[in-house]
Amino acid sequence: MPTVSLARLPTPVHRLDRLSARLGLDLWAKRDDLTGLGLSGNKVRKLEHLFAEAEAAGADTVLTTGGIQSNHCRATAVAARQRGMRPILLLRGEDPGAPEGNLLLDRLLGADIHWCTPDQYRTSRNALLDELAAGVAREGGRPYVIPEGGSNAVGARGYLDAAAELASQAEPFDHHFVAVGSGGTLAGLAMSALPGRIHGIAVCDDQATFEARVRDIAREAGAPLPADWWVDDRYKGPAYSVATPAIWDDIRLAAREEGLLVDPCYTGKALHALCSEARAGRLSGRVLFWHTGGAFGLFGRGAEVVA
Ligand SMILES: Cc1ncc(COP(=O)(O)O)c(C=O)c1O
Repeated sequence: MPTVSLARLPTPVHRLDRLSARLGLDLWAKRDDLTGLGLSGNKVRKLEHLFAEAEAAGADTVLTTGGIQSNHCRATAVAARQRGMRPILLLRGEDPGAPEGNLLLDRLLGADIHWCTPDQYRTSRNALLDELAAGVAREGGRPYVIPEGGSNAVGARGYLDAAAELASQAEPFDHHFVAVGSGGTLAGLAMSALPGRIHGIAVCDDQATFEARVRDIAREAGAPLPADWWVDDRYKGPAYSVATPAIWDDIRLAAREEGLLVDPCYTGKALHALCSEARAGRLSGRVLFWHTGGAFGLFGRGAEVVA
């Protein structure tokens, strides 16, 4: 499949020695947080495929949608600028005025930002994106719409690639932990022949919703789901982007033991799930933490970091 080169690949795989000792595991990290700086995290692998399709279609404008602190929207805006395109973002929430974290970067990049309410986002974000795209076309532009999280059959190919990359880098793992926010990353891994059990850690919604989403993406891709995978929704905390004190404790633990920066929205929840399963004696052997990025989500959360 054609791709546009956006990510620094392969990303490193390395052992987490001190967390291994603390948790009684052979624990490793796949550093997809290091796919780049502005263009960092798991979204970049998806965007390599999505931008290839956009460019093949002759697009000059890329539209996508997400939460106010969406890593995917920020990564799409960076990629658009790197490829000489115009980014348009539909964000859930209200303009806070002074931007922080990912929104600060969206503003710096000059993305054309539109706002919608949580209700509109839930019921009609795709229709709203299509309306914005139709407006671009009426003005003579050539729009390309990327769905929430870049999670469709095209984007998920990025994690089929990642599974192949991992197989060339390290001995097989018994367990994989990865955050699930829109399902594309887990879908790509689940479509691969990756050995070991893949624990998709939901950061919002529930197990049934995300397992159905993964199956939908695989159906759209016309691909089977041969890996051993499931979605665990016990570690999502009270709401999307809200982290409990126990999640924050493990965010601090990763920073202080390993210098690993994980965020309260995605990777902190996945790491907390891994630590909790290990502490409960339900995990053993070689375990891989997929660090999918998200560090910009720490900015603006100062009160919780120092709590
Ligand atoms: C940092 C980070 N990790 C993990 C995820 C989850 O990936 P996916 O949306 O493919 O489920 C996201 C986005 O949702 C993310 O921004």
